[in-house]
Amino acid sequence: MSNVGLQEKADKRGRFGSFGGRFVPETLMNALLELEAGYREALADHAFQTELRRLLTEYSGRPTPLTLAENLTRSIGGAKIYLKREDLNHTGAHKINNTLGQGLLAKRMGKKKLIAETGAGQHGVASATVAALLGLECRVFMGEEDVRRQRLNVFRMELLGAEVVPVSSGTRTLKDATNEAIRHWVSHVEDTFYLIGSAVGPHPYPEMVKMFQRVIGDEARAQLLEREGRLPDEVIACVGGGSNAIGMFTAFLSDNKVRLTGVEAAGAGVDTDRHAATLTKGSPGVLHGSLSYLLQNEHGQVLPAHSISAGLDYPGVGPEHAYLKESGRVRYTTATDQEALVAVQTLCQQEGILPALESAHAIAEALKLAANRSHQDVVLVCLSGRGDKDVESIRQGLEGLHDESD
Ligand SMILES: Cc1ncc(COP(=O)(O)O)c(C=O)c1O
Repeated sequence: MSNVGLQEKADKRGRFGSFGGRFVPETLMNALLELEAGYREALADHAFQTELRRLLTEYSGRPTPLTLAENLTRSIGGAKIYLKREDLNHTGAHKINNTLGQGLLAKRMGKKKLIAETGAGQHGVASATVAALLGLECRVFMGEEDVRRQRLNVFRMELLGAEVVPVSSGTRTLKDATNEAIRHWVSHVEDTFYLIGSAVGPHPYPEMVKMFQRVIGDEARAQLLEREGRLPDEVIACVGGGSNAIGMFTAFLSDNKVRLTGVEAAGAGVDTDRHAATLTKGSPGVLHGSLSYLLQNEHGQVLPAHSISAGLDYPGVGPEHAYLKESGRVRYTTATDQEALVAVQTLCQQEGILPALESAHAIAEALKLAANRSHQDVVLVCLSGRGDKDVESIRQGLEGLHDESD
């Protein structure tokens, strides 16, 4: 495994290796060029950086803590497990890091309206929150299936003053919500900022979202060095579109000895047709404006994804992950619905922490890896969000598990 020559930024065409780019209708090209220029100016603007840092600290509660999962470590009897607590952010997940960044950028660019897509609802809630804070209008597109699964988050968005638009096409999940958001953006580009919730979409979104999320890894790296005086042996994060994972991994990309593992949703199993394991089972193609891996059939038709976790239930993935997979720097693996449910139960019962179903996929992998490592080793896991939003899905899932074992 080597990162010699690893490209950490998109090139001029917005490519990470052969992945990424801009595959959009002509009508969006100017909007993307305007966004890229606005983003680069903001990055170089001291006042923008200061305001973003202020909000991340005073409003969201950063730095989030690093928690040593002592009971879990003891019961597994292998490596020490540390959790990077993005669940303790305001609104309950890492999504707020990116929405604060893009929200401030929208305001700086003079846009009055935000649109967003959401799966689990965490990005929708974070977008609605930032819109309320910054005095912007907010409309959130959400698949009908996710509206059903994430009722609590729909109510939260409405309470925050956002309009939630249920999407009834396709599998009525995140892919379809994203299609609808792009369709809306095409006809409202003048006054509307599209606040994408993951490291996906056309250039410059994947690079921009990573920049707003890299605070996760930068903080965790410094915190771990202070606590342990060393870097971790393994870093693990779940991968939906890939924003919490890229935010965590970026800080460690050039530390060759640190193994990086992304965990996709295997749903009912990667050998069934009910999973969301895009990098594991997919192939290169274009979805939502960029070239990356996706789940598709032999005719290039996008296949439906499945996961118990609404935030991982997406047939695409950010282009930088496709690049990191092909370069061999990051290992991508999977956890099933069942393994995620067991991980939720384990973390609740042993540490008193209720993780989001998304994050539970990373925990499931950590439980396996830590068991096979020595006491001297350190495993760092991104706990991307809290599980309050998922309690109903978890209850039903656990009932199903118990029924199966009866
Ligand atoms: C808590 C949590 N973790 C992870 C994800 C997956 O997104 P990403 O891969 O962009 O981090 C989501 C998406 O909704 C989420 O809510």
